[in-house]
Amino acid sequence: MRFEIWNKGVATLEVDCLVVGVFEEGELTAHARSIDEAAGGRLKKLVSRGDFSGRAAETLLVGDLPGLAASRVLLTGLGARKAFGRKPWRNAWTAAVDALVKTGVASAAVALERPDPEALDDYYYGRAVAEIASLGLYRVNDLKTGKKPKPAALKRVLAGPAAKGQAKAIERGLAHGAAIAEAAKVQRDLANLPGNICTPRYLAERARALAKSHRSLSVRVLDEPAIKREKMGCLLAVAQGGGEPPRLIVLEHKGGKAGAAPVVLVGKGVTFDSGGISIKPSAEMDEMKYDMSGAAAVIAALSLMAQLRAPLNVVGIVAAVENMPDGKAVKPGDIVTSSSGQTVEILNTDAEGRLILSDALHYARRFKPAALVDMATLTGACVIALGHPQRGVVGTEGAVVRELIGAGVRADDRAWQLPLTQEYTGQLKSNFADFANIGGRDGGTITAAAFLGKFTRGMRWAHLDIAGTAWRSGAHKGSTGRPTPLLADFLIRRAGL
Ligand code: BES
Ligand code: MN
Ligand code: ZN
Repeated sequence: MRFEIWNKGVATLEVDCLVVGVFEEGELTAHARSIDEAAGGRLKKLVSRGDFSGRAAETLLVGDLPGLAASRVLLTGLGARKAFGRKPWRNAWTAAVDALVKTGVASAAVALERPDPEALDDYYYGRAVAEIASLGLYRVNDLKTGKKPKPAALKRVLAGPAAKGQAKAIERGLAHGAAIAEAAKVQRDLANLPGNICTPRYLAERARALAKSHRSLSVRVLDEPAIKREKMGCLLAVAQGGGEPPRLIVLEHKGGKAGAAPVVLVGKGVTFDSGGISIKPSAEMDEMKYDMSGAAAVIAALSLMAQLRAPLNVVGIVAAVENMPDGKAVKPGDIVTSSSGQTVEILNTDAEGRLILSDALHYARRFKPAALVDMATLTGACVIALGHPQRGVVGTEGAVVRELIGAGVRADDRAWQLPLTQEYTGQLKSNFADFANIGGRDGGTITAAAFLGKFTRGMRWAHLDIAGTAWRSGAHKGSTGRPTPLLADFLIRRAGL
């Protein structure tokens, strides 16, 4: 997909389709009025006949209007003028892209009303145009053997109008938006793969292949013997019940000054979570193939940094393992020693994410991170607390937590902070080891984070619980590609791009 800007009268734009906005009750936007004038009042007529009302996300394709260089116009509902802003604009452009891909339109110009620049400045406007268009073209990487549906014809999207002083910022936004969508696709494609294909070894191979294709990237994969040498007792305990050997994957993007402290990202890569001996109920257990979404997001973020040649040092650490219940599996009550030297009583083998992350977070220490962010589909409790619109963020470094929240707001991929105080850590008390891997039902997302906090002392750390946001269930089951947009904003800002 190619992205460009436009800046002349809409009637003269030579594209297959003009996308123009109409407010509720048929109120034409400025661009719609220009089109209407050029076309001899045809739009007004359409609206007054009641064929288009401007309801949010309503679309209508109109062909061959006189007086236009474009062969089609896509009327797109913006909803009530009073409520118009960034979100309704995003919804409208999303609906327009959906409508466009169902047609043979190969090039389109976005001439919707733009939200107030306070709500969506030139840069973020460009970014959203590209991101939404690219995501709209995404097709699930299924393994169906029938005839593949024809790929969408849409190849070229023009954003505008871009007055002289605006062009640069919009173009930068378009480039970043396209790259972010590309990264989100990396995350989605990995997460959508089933557990029998996307194994820890597969994730390692993909990381290797990625590193090979970018000069700024290097990779190191720790196999089982190497993990044993690191004394990662928690990670090994989770792995021991599965047929697939674990991997610890370290991907590095060296884009910043040599020796500058890196941002370290850590991802939970449980390629299938059966729960282990504390086995999960069967219903929807297939969705536990997405339990490596944090890992996929880390790999996606590193590919984005390489793609954008970001002047920033970033390290991605992925703990990859499957959680299965065979005869050698770890049992409730087993006590293991983590690489940090602390002992853990495993009271529930289904609380495996925090176990593998504990060793990965400890491994991060050697990089002396400027900021340490882990992401994990860690707790069902987070889905109960926040549902699907927002993910949880918990951490001991307020500045990093605030930075992530801000990135989420700007990227429309939000995070909501939960507290982390001493009381919660107290819930992890064990009679037999330094602490247990569960803290009871109450405040489950926070006690999971408190467990991680035992391994991040002194580091600038924040944790994203992405259990509710990384995939969708139901008819549109699949990976959402989130939190890649949030993470992208966080990293792009840190890099000063
Ligand atoms: N991967 C799950 C968390 C999860 C559950 C994500 C549902 C998305 C939807 C995690 O490993 C897990 O099983 N957590 C347990 C923790 C409990 C045993 C303390 C949970 O949330 O039930
Ligand atoms: Mn689990
Ligand atoms: Zn899990």
